[in-house]
Amino acid sequence: MSRELKGLVLSGGAGTRLRPITHTSAKQLVPVANTPVLFYGLEALRDAGITDIGIIIGDTGDEIREAVGDGSALGIRATFIPQSAPLGLAHAVLTAEEFLGDSSFVMYLGDNLLRDGITPLVEEFRASDPDAMILLQHVPNPSSYGVAVLDGDRVVNLEEKPAAPKSDLALVGVYMFTPSILDAAKAIAPSARGELEITDAIQYLIDEGRRVEPHVVTGWWKDTGQVEDMLEANRLILDVMEPRVDGELINSDIEGRVVIEAGARLVNSHVRGPAVIGRDAVVEDAYIGPYSSISTGCVVRRAEIEHSILLERVHLEDLDARVESSLIGRDVTITRTDAKPRAYRFVLGDSSVIGLT
Ligand code: DAU
Repeated sequence: MSRELKGLVLSGGAGTRLRPITHTSAKQLVPVANTPVLFYGLEALRDAGITDIGIIIGDTGDEIREAVGDGSALGIRATFIPQSAPLGLAHAVLTAEEFLGDSSFVMYLGDNLLRDGITPLVEEFRASDPDAMILLQHVPNPSSYGVAVLDGDRVVNLEEKPAAPKSDLALVGVYMFTPSILDAAKAIAPSARGELEITDAIQYLIDEGRRVEPHVVTGWWKDTGQVEDMLEANRLILDVMEPRVDGELINSDIEGRVVIEAGARLVNSHVRGPAVIGRDAVVEDAYIGPYSSISTGCVVRRAEIEHSILLERVHLEDLDARVESSLIGRDVTITRTDAKPRAYRFVLGDSSVIGLT
């Protein structure tokens, strides 16, 4: 198969499980090691030689457009495709029908991360030319995913988030399709949760006798839909990041794998990697511990943090206890004052989670 493949990246939907971080902003733009999750997928497609990429967008489309631009900075050509509502992954495919034309394509869920990229898998798809190829991974909690049952190297059954999974093989959010998936998406009905499921569309292909090839992925894979997964993805990416110091260190020291971006200033502080400190961040009389991602413009002063992600311009000041396992949204300020009586004073958005220990 020498046809050119297109890419279809799904970046619409509602990020309810990452609330409140994604009430108003796109979950695909939450940073992992200071790079939006979405960019890892776009880069994986580019590295596999796929540069003509349609990006499905929803309510948070403006933000996604602004972050990706025309795609040239990432080495791709981006076409934004608005979806009327998050009516399911197969609905997203149908929304992209005009963009896809009669091309085969790789569909990549914008909140998924695969350590090893997808280049050999795309090559395998090109070489063996099946009607569809799905990626799978053994997981401990299959009922959170689409679940596949195999018979040898044939896929025989697929179910979306079954209460009683028939195997532990989860569908990874990267799929390779020929245009036959469009007919399948048109043929199926919405599921009980009201979505046109891609899982059902692939099952339709199987029922029609089409060739659907499975590929079990062994390198790590993360669906970053939940806070713990996001922190875990952050840990995994920081572990393999190239260290670099472009910012300024004043009476400060760093150990391990650390990136300090230009314009960042560390004063009387200690950073133990893996960690990244973003542009123009200020870290003063502070400790930044392993697996911390501190975004652009953050201030951490007389505070300690580890295993956490701070989005842009978070201020942490004068904290008694170490901040850990936290995901803190843009422009949040957490400070302590000596005013009496001692009390907690909060201005919190809906669905915020505070853990006091
Ligand atoms: O991550 C793998 C899992 O992804 C698979 O195991 C499941 O079979 C598959 O259905 C999917 O499940 P999720 O519940 O995690 O999908 P989610 O609703 O999070 O959507 C995945 C991405 O697609 C996310 O970036 C939002 C986007 N999306 C979602 C829908 C429903 C759209 O762009 N449009 C949509 O209509």
